[in-house]
Amino acid sequence: MGVEELEVEVERILPGGMGLAHAGGKTVFVSLAAPGDRVRVRIDRKQGELLFASIVEILTPSPVRTEPPCPYFGRCGGCDFQQLTYEAQLEAKAGIIRDCLHRIARLEDVPEIVVTASPNNWRYRMRATWQIDRELRAIGYYERGSRRVCDVVDCAVLQPELQETLERVRATEWQQFPRDLKHLDAVEGENGVSLSPPFAEFRTNELSLTVRGEFYQYNADAFFQINPSLLGALIEYAIGYASGATVLDLYCGVGLFTLPLARQFQKVIGVEANGTAARFARRNLQLAGLTNANVITATVTDWFRSRAVGPVDFVLLDPPRAGAESAVIKGILDLHPRAISYVSCDPATLARDLRKLIGGGYVIESIAGFDLFPQTHHVETVVRLARSE
Ligand SMILES: C[S@@+](CC[C@H](N)C(=O)[O-])C[C@H]1O[C@@H](n2cnc3c(N)ncnc32)[C@H](O)[C@@H]1O
Repeated sequence: MGVEELEVEVERILPGGMGLAHAGGKTVFVSLAAPGDRVRVRIDRKQGELLFASIVEILTPSPVRTEPPCPYFGRCGGCDFQQLTYEAQLEAKAGIIRDCLHRIARLEDVPEIVVTASPNNWRYRMRATWQIDRELRAIGYYERGSRRVCDVVDCAVLQPELQETLERVRATEWQQFPRDLKHLDAVEGENGVSLSPPFAEFRTNELSLTVRGEFYQYNADAFFQINPSLLGALIEYAIGYASGATVLDLYCGVGLFTLPLARQFQKVIGVEANGTAARFARRNLQLAGLTNANVITATVTDWFRSRAVGPVDFVLLDPPRAGAESAVIKGILDLHPRAISYVSCDPATLARDLRKLIGGGYVIESIAGFDLFPQTHHVETVVRLARSE
């Protein structure tokens, strides 16, 4: 059977980053597309009436298409938006959030959504995971749709010091790489770079960074946000408006929100499953002289299960990509906080959880996007909710 090809026009960008097109009554998902492209595509995979396709030839380029500058683009699984102008990336991300809120959260009227641009849209990443293939002597990111490692010499989205570290890792004798080393977590701070696991000359150093006047310590074993340039604005939008007696900071990491919350509320309870991150959060509070916050090392589900929480005015939750567990949403609803800020790096799981919160008596006050991940379809979203009286 020959390779199946089609000519289609890309209508818009969908959650997940693919372009949407239609042909012969079928829905076609086109990878690395721009809205308005007229393209000839090859069908790579079929799933019922859905066709997954890649571009063979651009017949008429979209007005928002641009030449991807990275030599690994298309092969490397890291960036899937380099074909779009930066303005078009921001517009596509606002559309992705809107789409999820409409289809998954079932919102009839989706409020206006603006995605704030990253001041740097190249060389912005201060954290990365590098995949290692010791046999092939390759270091980089997984190739698109595979577990093969794309050997990346220069990654155009890494901050300069992280890029330099990648080069030093690459220049290390391969005999020095531990046999079972499959990936390296790297993170940067104002005082250097931390790698986990440590090997050869590389250490899991303690780093620091000041954000919106707060001083944070962390290392490569704890979560820290990828793009430092928008963190001040993100924090301001998520919690700047909130005040009261007691606040919960769920999935609190090393305390990015916990410290500023401790200045705005009488009492803060932070919950974080990663022991290293929770230890850093406690230390960051101590270094700031903040004694009104308590950080608990537990999964949020276990924490809700194990204790009765007193009255809470405000809940900030910032879960990983999978979103909040059902028991966590139930735990929050049982507390009836006046307001909730949901910080999310995945609009689809955000929308799933918002549906439950709205069903539990909350209304969306406002939504904002922050482009923490330029050149990719990923976007950080903050939704502010209030209890309907
Ligand atoms: C997206 S990060 C947010 C961290 C922090 N709010 C920040 O902005 O730096 C999610 C955090 O949740 C933690 N985590 C993941 N699953 C968890 C769970 N079930 N319960 C508690 N924390 C969890 C991770 O270790 C990580 O620190």
